[in-house]
This record gives sequence, C-alpha cells and structure tokens, in this order.
Amino acid sequence: MKSKALLLVNIGQLLTLRSTADGPRRGASLSELGIVQDAAVLCLGGKIVSVGTTKEALHDPWLKKNRKEVIQIDCAGRVVLPGFVDSHTHPVFTHPRLIDFEKRISGSSYEEIAEAGGGIRSSIDGVRAASKAALIQRVAAALTEMSRHGTTTVEAKSGYGLSLESELKSLEAIGVAARKFPGTVVPTFLGAHVVPPEYRGRSQEYVDLVCKRMLPAIAKRKLAKSVDVFCDREAFSLPETEQIFGAAAEYGLGVRAHLGQLSETRLAPLLRYRPASLDHMDYVHGDDLPALAQCDTIATLVPGANYFLGLARYPDARRLIASGIAVALATDYNPGSSPTLSMPMAMSLACTHLKMSAAEAIASTTINGAWALRLANRKGSVEAGKDGDLAVFDVTDYREIPYWFGDNRSVMTIMNGVPIGSLAS
Ligand code: NIG
Ligand code: FE
Repeated sequence: MKSKALLLVNIGQLLTLRSTADGPRRGASLSELGIVQDAAVLCLGGKIVSVGTTKEALHDPWLKKNRKEVIQIDCAGRVVLPGFVDSHTHPVFTHPRLIDFEKRISGSSYEEIAEAGGGIRSSIDGVRAASKAALIQRVAAALTEMSRHGTTTVEAKSGYGLSLESELKSLEAIGVAARKFPGTVVPTFLGAHVVPPEYRGRSQEYVDLVCKRMLPAIAKRKLAKSVDVFCDREAFSLPETEQIFGAAAEYGLGVRAHLGQLSETRLAPLLRYRPASLDHMDYVHGDDLPALAQCDTIATLVPGANYFLGLARYPDARRLIASGIAVALATDYNPGSSPTLSMPMAMSLACTHLKMSAAEAIASTTINGAWALRLANRKGSVEAGKDGDLAVFDVTDYREIPYWFGDNRSVMTIMNGVPIGSLAS
C-alpha cells in the first residue's frame, strides 16, 4: 500500500532501537534503546527516510520545498517507538473457551482439561464448521485490535483446523485478512498443534498427513512462510518434530516450535534445522543454554500464557539473558492459554514476573521480535530504509508503557507509512 509523505515532529522520546551490532540483541545490548529526544521521523513511500531532531527536520531543504505534500503530525512530547512485532499469535478461532476458564478457576490444570475433551481440541469444531468468510472476519478484527495496541507486524498461525481442508481454509483466511490490513502479517502453518480426535492413538499417521499432504499443498499455494510444531508432552514428540522440520526444509519453509511449555525437551536435534524461534521455554535444560546462545534462534517468551493459566512458574528470562540468549516477547494470542492481543500487557508481565527491565521489554517486543520472524532487515527499529512502522503512545516516558498495565495508551499506529488513529492535543 503506497502512502503520502508523513512527518512526525515534537516526539518527546523516540526509541529508535538503531542497530548496535549485527544480529539480535543479547545481554546488555537488550537495554539500548537509541533514544532521541525532541525527535522527528520522515516516512516516504511507506518507508522511513530520515530520523533526527525536530529542529533538523524543520530546517531540511527538501521538507521546506515540499511542505504541501507532507502530512505533519505534532506528537506534542509523546513517546514514539517501532511498531511492535508480535511474533507468536493464533488468531484463527471462533469462540472463547469459557468452560476451560471455569474449570481452571476450580483447580483443573491445562493438561487435565485437555484430557477431558477441552483444550486445543475443543477449538477444532468451531473452525471446521466456520465459513472462510467468518474466519476472515475474525482474523481481520483481531489484526485491527492489535494495531490499536501498537502492533504493526503479526505472525499468525493456523492450527485449529487440523485437517487438510480446514488448515488450508485457516491459512487462506489469514492471507485474505492480511491483504486488507495496512500492517504486515507473517503466516505460519501449525498443522502439528495436537493430534486431532479422529487420529487418536495414530499420531504417526497424522504426522505423515501433515508432511505428505498438508505441507506440499500449503507450499504450493504459498500460504505460509514457516512451519510450527507443538513439541511437548501430550502433543508431538521430538522425533515427530524432526520429521516435520525435515519436510518443511524440503519445501523451503522456515521452522519454529512451541517448546518447553509443559516439560523439558533437549534442543540439539532441533537446532540443526536452524529454527527462527523456540517459544515458551519455561523448561530448558541448563546444558542447552550455550548452544542456544551461539545461534540466531530467538527464545520467544509468552508470559500471557503463564498468567492466564494461573501458573506460579514463569520462564527464567534472567537466566536466558545472562547466558547470552536473544529473547523476544509475544502475546501468544489464542483462546485457550492467552486471550490477549496486547503487547504492552505482555511487556508488563515481563517486567513484573520475568524481572525484565522496561528497556529490555521494549527491545524484546520490537527488534528481537523482528529477528524471530527473520524480518529484522525491514522491521523492529526506526532507521532510514526500514518500513514505516511506528507506534505513538500517550505517555512522556517509555517506562509508562508497561507501567499502566491493562490500559491502552497507544493513540496512533503507523503501518507501512499509513497512520491509523488520531492525536488529540
Ligand atoms: O501457545 N501450546 C500450544 N498452543 C497454545 C495454546 C493453544 C490453546 O490452548 O488453544 C499456546 O499456549
Ligand atoms: Fe502458541
């Protein structure tokens, strides 16, 4: 989508997240936000073309000459940062799982609920019965709501259809909703979410269906950029995950996994496939930390799931960061374990429960989220040449973004140079 020139001025704090070194942020660099005060940003043709101070922008000869062609937005001292990159969401579902919610309140665990017929399997019927139009509408509504919370890039998984027809329908719905969305959507095929009921006890047959029928059909239609597997107790085993990763590689698709949510899985066999991201990571073997720190695989933490499942245990972000592992934060938006699409909420939980600083939470929801989607060349920082993706927050200090938890202080989102929202002064 092409857009007019857009000039943001009088930005109180511009968090540029400009690059400090090659690769994702690790250790101390996770706290470097590259803040410019009283800043300005110019976007042209959907891209960022210059970043500096308001004073510099107002004296810029090109801007002086082309003033009439430029939409100028006075940010009046507010905070501007790169639009959030939500690198882990499951937006293709039809109904909230209120029975699971009630059962958990009464003391049942995530796994007990799944065994009793709730859990992921209870979202399948709705998706299988839904029309594609209904799914498009659900995904489009979620994308819009995400953008209202400052998110400009969204990874969106299938995974509640779990048949060839319904996985294709889910990914097509993501594709149609994505084309109507001014931001950026990265589709992921999660056919290996759980074994669907009709394959109960025949897990290998279902994995074969994923690898031999679903994956080729999805690759042929270019419906996904990568393939995800829920590799855990009650879901798919390590050998099954390796089989699916191998098949994905044959079709030129990237890989990622839900890992370490319920139990520990050793990483070495999977790191061979160079996954863009391993997500959850509540349980990680200490001996695997050095290998993970050596590669560009991101550990994506989703504290919304721990919060909503009422868990006492959260991923040990401090240990991961101290080991040199690149971490990202995402919402894990889904009807079972994390029905939030708010990245500021994920950041707030990261601060209070993972003991990450506000600065670390910002880098983890922007530039490292972009790395988790292998999009860091275009997304995640405010630098000339990158996509014009920005979020304006009605705060004067960036630490307020996670501080006002449960609130939405995002007042304007700019996606590929297109502004949505308004700034009342
Ligand atoms: O990331 N763990 C697997 N998938 C989702 C949960 C999906 C669901 O419960 O519907 C997650 O937590
Ligand atoms: Fe998930």
